[in-house]
This record gives sequence, structure tokens and C-alpha cells, in this order.
Amino acid sequence: MPAMTKARLHLRPTDAALGADIEGVDLAQLDETSFGEIERAWAAYLVLRFRDQSLTDVDLMRFGRHLGELDRVPIKAANVAMTDDPRLSIAPEAREYVTVISNVKIDGKAIGGLGNYESRWHTDMSYNPQPPAASALYGIEVPPSGGDTSFCNMYLAYETLDAEVKQRIAGLSCIHDASRNSVGELRRGFAESTDPTQTVGAKHPIVRTHPVTGRQCLFLGRRRNAYIPGLALEDSEALLDRLWEHASEPRFSWTQVWRKGDLVVWDNRCVMHRRDAFDDSLQRVMHRIQICGDTPF
Ligand code: OGA
Ligand code: MN
Repeated sequence: MPAMTKARLHLRPTDAALGADIEGVDLAQLDETSFGEIERAWAAYLVLRFRDQSLTDVDLMRFGRHLGELDRVPIKAANVAMTDDPRLSIAPEAREYVTVISNVKIDGKAIGGLGNYESRWHTDMSYNPQPPAASALYGIEVPPSGGDTSFCNMYLAYETLDAEVKQRIAGLSCIHDASRNSVGELRRGFAESTDPTQTVGAKHPIVRTHPVTGRQCLFLGRRRNAYIPGLALEDSEALLDRLWEHASEPRFSWTQVWRKGDLVVWDNRCVMHRRDAFDDSLQRVMHRIQICGDTPF
């Protein structure tokens, strides 16, 4: 990708398979020219990190709108009862679009989603017919250790598959389980399910074409209860295990170790992510926005 021309924006790629820091930008003051450079960097590095930001929810939403239309917050896990605790102080105009990701409990009620649990590799809301194009997480309170978030490059995961596997998955689709969220909690309105052939959720191609870059990538979404229609269950399981084992190889990933004020935005179409568990006596509070995506093809 071309070097950034503007002196005040500096691009610093990680030494891993994806990810870059963008330095010298205050996201609360972003203009269209700087955004153009950021957009090019994002297409090349898939995950961008902006450190030392100080953003309100409205700033976060304004940043998101440069990327596309803001997606509405997803259905909450059954155990998340949003309080109107003033500490959250999400502006009314932000409530439809900003999700709290946190383990903090007030009066025994979770103030946000995902707790302190590990989340395995996943694509956000891949169980929807049109999963978000992007997600952005902003670190408001970050524990001194634990809760790192890793990202993996699904273009590379696809490109490095054996020719024989590539041929096998061409034209195959997979059903993505809608019943549980990324930490395995049952979502409101869904029944427990353990038979992958009965999985309820969107069906997507296993190899998708990125609508902006035109490049192909693996699109696996989530492993639990995934099923490839048309295959016997055991064949579907064996093929999915093989693909997941490959995509999870450390050489495709980069890990974000959080600092307060970090804003990390990832391309949810060609990147999966996972999170380490952390000590529940520590407090972690993130605000998240998502950008609407289109139907994978
Ligand atoms: C998410 C998610 C990871 C994290 O918000 O979709 O997976 O680090 N979060 O909290
Ligand atoms: Mn996620």
C-alpha cells in the first residue's frame, strides 16, 4: 500500500499477519481526507488500532459513520439486564447503537455483555443474513492483565489451504448457529440445540468474496453447531474441524493487549477474533459499535 502522504498521520504495521497502529489522529476530530487514508490502511491491514483516544459515545458513532451505516445493538444474552446506572451514562441517542461489553455488575446485574469469559474465535453476528461489515471496540476501563483480544487474517487462512481443500469447499455453504453469543451464552428467544443438522441461523458460503477488495477469504463464523448442508454430519464435522484447525494457526493472528483509550476497529468480513478470559475481580468496560454489512457472496 502507498505510504501515507500526510505528515501528521503515521501508519505503523504490526509485525504479524494483520493489524496496524494509526498514530497522530484524534478520532473525535476526523476529517474526510484523513479518513480516506485510514480507509486505505484498513483495507490493507484489516485491523487498525488508535491509541490514547478520548471519545464520547457520540464521537464513537461519528467515527463509525465514516465507515458506513451504524448497525443496531444485537439481542442481549438472557442474563444481561441493562441498568440505568449513571456510570454508564450512554447518551439516549447512542443507546440504539452502542453496546457495552463488560464484566462489571451493579446490584448483581451485568451492565454489559460477555462477562469475563473467554470467547473462542468468531465473526460477530455471523448467524445473521447480513453480518456487520465492521466492529469497533473502545477501551474505557481495562484490567492490568488478561482480556487480550486476538484477530486472525482470513484471506491468508484461505490462500494457504491445500489446493485439494480449496477445491472441496468451493461452492459449499455453512449454517451459523444463532442460539448462542460469542461466549456461549444462550440468546434470548432461542432454545438449546446440540444437533448441528438442526441448527437455526444464517447460511453463508464458506469462501466469500470481500465486497470492497474483491479478494476471497475463508468465512467460518463460529464453530459450535456449525453444519455444512448436503454433507453427512460426520463429514461436515471432519471438514469443519480441518478448516478451523488451519484458520486458528498462530501465524495468521495478532493479539491486542489493551490500554485505556484504545480504539480498535476490525473488518468483520475477513477477520475473526477471540478474547482471553480475565479475573472477574477486575473491571473491564468497552463500548462497541458495528457497521451494517451486506449479504456474503
Ligand atoms: C465483541 C468481542 C472481544 C473483547 O465485542 O464482539 O468479541 O475483547 N469482544 O471484549
Ligand atoms: Mn465478538
